[in-house]
Amino acid sequence: MNTSNQDIFSLKKMTDTDFDRISTFIYNELGMKMPPQKKILLEGRLYKRLRELNIDTFKEYIDFVLTKGEFNGELITMFDLVTTNKTDFFRESQHFDFFSKKYLNDFRLINPGKNLKIWSAGCSSGEEVYTLAMICYEFKVNNIDFDFHILGTDISNKMITSASMAIYPDSRIGDIPFDLKKKYLLKSKDHSLKMIRIVPELRLKTSFLRHNLMNENYNEFEAFDAIFCRNVLIYFDANTQKLVIQKLLSRLKTGGYLFLGHSETVSSSKFDLQHIQPSVYIKN
Ligand SMILES: C[S@@+](CC[C@H](N)C(=O)[O-])C[C@H]1O[C@@H](n2cnc3c(N)ncnc32)[C@H](O)[C@@H]1O
Repeated sequence: MNTSNQDIFSLKKMTDTDFDRISTFIYNELGMKMPPQKKILLEGRLYKRLRELNIDTFKEYIDFVLTKGEFNGELITMFDLVTTNKTDFFRESQHFDFFSKKYLNDFRLINPGKNLKIWSAGCSSGEEVYTLAMICYEFKVNNIDFDFHILGTDISNKMITSASMAIYPDSRIGDIPFDLKKKYLLKSKDHSLKMIRIVPELRLKTSFLRHNLMNENYNEFEAFDAIFCRNVLIYFDANTQKLVIQKLLSRLKTGGYLFLGHSETVSSSKFDLQHIQPSVYIKN
């Protein structure tokens, strides 16, 4: 490597000071813990953005985000880059077995004629929302007095836009049972594209909003019968988890269900919850 290349390379490196500034900011804004081991990951994710903006150093980029990002949209772009959005249809399928075989019947018996309101908090690109929509729609067909609505929220604008579009590559639908695929997925007219779209009947039962779980304001939401917040808390430290769970519970009806990811647990006694299934809780 010649000297000038070395200079360019060193200019682009994220220093420890850069990392401290940006990781503290991300923690304060998103609640995401960013231990020093995450430096390389963060550097990798933001590097491309520096090139797109023609910015030479992470310091410059961080100054730009922290001082002007709120006004020029860069904050939202940066959040999109740092969040992990892995998701799937029917992910952690035991929850959906329980939901379709037990939860829905119980809900209808206790609340005859009432609309079921579900919140998928940290919904990523919407697969969890449409999985629930397929199950609820199946139930609705056999129970005409039943109806439902599912709200999906996420910090990432990009994910919310993609979830609202409800268009997915063929390669993502392997876990959807065959009969549900036939009923609820539309194939693209141009078969070479290998894309599917969720049918309008299900899309009409859903809505999507950008929402930061760290935000003070949850009051814009009505109370829900069930909240799915799965594989989101793992990115938060213990204090933030506690804060977010308290806020989620403030929007859950008494007797409502909270579904967390399989590797996420909360102390039932601390939050006045009953633990009824792996990572499923009822609010007392
Ligand atoms: C790994 S995905 C989980 C998606 C889905 N719930 C599932 O289990 O398949 C985590 C999602 O949480 C979102 N997220 C992270 N921090 C957030 C915050 N502070 N507020 C709202 N959403 C957040 C991310 O953008 C990401 O889409």
